Amino acid sequence: MSYSLATASYIGATILFILCLGGLSNQETARRGNLYGMIGMAIAVVATIFGPYVAGFGGVVWVIFAMLIGASVGLYAARKVQMTQMPELVALMHSLVGLAAMLVGFATYVDPIAASHLGGAEKTIHEIEIYVGILIGAVTFSGSVIAFGKLSGKISGNPLLLPGRHWINLIGLLVVIFFGRQFLHADTTGEGMAYLIVMTIIALAFGVHMVMAIGGADMPVVVSMLNSYSGWAAAATGFMLSNDLLIVTGALVGSSGAILSYIMCEAMNRHFISVIAGGFGTTSGAAAAGGAQPAGEVVPILAPETAELLRDAKNVIIIPGYGMAVAQAQHTVYEITRFLRDKGVNVRFGIHPVAGRMPGHMNVLLAEAKVPYDIVLEMDELNDDFPKTDVAMVIGANDIVNPGAQDDPSSPIAGMPVLEAWKATTSIVMKRSMASGYAGVDNPLFYKENNRMLFGDAKKMLDEVLAALKA
Ligand code: TAP
Repeated sequence: MSYSLATASYIGATILFILCLGGLSNQETARRGNLYGMIGMAIAVVATIFGPYVAGFGGVVWVIFAMLIGASVGLYAARKVQMTQMPELVALMHSLVGLAAMLVGFATYVDPIAASHLGGAEKTIHEIEIYVGILIGAVTFSGSVIAFGKLSGKISGNPLLLPGRHWINLIGLLVVIFFGRQFLHADTTGEGMAYLIVMTIIALAFGVHMVMAIGGADMPVVVSMLNSYSGWAAAATGFMLSNDLLIVTGALVGSSGAILSYIMCEAMNRHFISVIAGGFGTTSGAAAAGGAQPAGEVVPILAPETAELLRDAKNVIIIPGYGMAVAQAQHTVYEITRFLRDKGVNVRFGIHPVAGRMPGHMNVLLAEAKVPYDIVLEMDELNDDFPKTDVAMVIGANDIVNPGAQDDPSSPIAGMPVLEAWKATTSIVMKRSMASGYAGVDNPLFYKENNRMLFGDAKKMLDEVLAALKA
């Protein structure tokens, strides 16, 4: 493939990636957006392998060999992963982008051909690309590995708050800048390599420290922030390899991830800078103290009584959460919704921006179950409607309906906007036990007079509710 055809293919792929992002911004166009992305990626891969970027037939064989290994691992992981483990998988994939950026950086530095024709300012720019690329890659790599550990429960979700942690970060940053200067003035490759290795160790430690300092309640922002970092790491790799498409694609991922992080911070009432600096504003609330202490009496309810309340209702709001994903209850939820709508009940869904374990988690599940988009509403769109609602049915959700976020300034989720389910005439919380949610705090909603607890696996209980409705 000629250089100009490869460039034209890259421009085509870039346009398709932009259309893909545009499509993904809306549920109704998301499928089309995905298709654009897949076509764009196919064009990009073909143009890269058969374009002027891969050296000779031998190079093509190596690339295809590596792709086969990567694709087999990816296919296996994607088929095996549960929907609820998706965020962990995403974190792990971000770590691979970071690792790739690091390896490309080191390889480019020791490659005798890469910089042989460069001199003066061009050589300096090339070395800055390498230094910054390895720096971003290392932070992304170690931060994502820790995020994977936290999301999968292998590492405690409690924030690790070292004394003087912000000073440690600041000193690390200054040392990295100092070694960067030394690196640019290094006389030999060996000397430069030593600076690179020291900086990489500091960057790896920074990534670990940054994510370890973030409490469970802020993890959604960390996931999207690491997504953004992985984009910048890919863009840095693009600079090192002089590959325009990688630069553009990395910048798209980096900037869209940054925008998503900002939106999520707004949704959770957190300061963006505080979260990315790691641990700012993290208080030693209940989560940090090691979990919630149940307080008060709850009123249990059974499936037939739940069905009766739903049958008598005119307005119902369903609030799905992580437990619905665990139980895979979305299809039964849809059956119940259809039944009630056929009987003239106004059923709507209230989606919290951080419900579940990844952005859009609930929307994906409800779309999969074919719940109509027009009854799936954002928190802000229906939070004022709870006082006019007969039944608010909370399915496997906890933190996102916790009134403590409004009433208890010492709570780790204080200030986070929540769905005000307790304002409905009756709220029903469906979960298996009195266990706390992701943030590890007790939920005063459970003890409210107008609240009922339907204990059990969400799928099993909803099957019983559906059977009782139809009886
Ligand atoms: P959570 O607060 O984690 O509560 C989920 C509840 O589901 C748990 O209390 C659990 O109680 C229940 N549950 C689990 N399995 C169940 C099953 N099979 N049947 C019925 N119930 C079940 O979830 P949420 O309300 O969706 O809030 C999301 C939380 O995750 C927030 O704190 C958020 O910050 C955090 N988070 C979100 C993201 C993103 S990007 N969305 C990423 C990381 C973290 P039982 O054990 O008693 O059943």
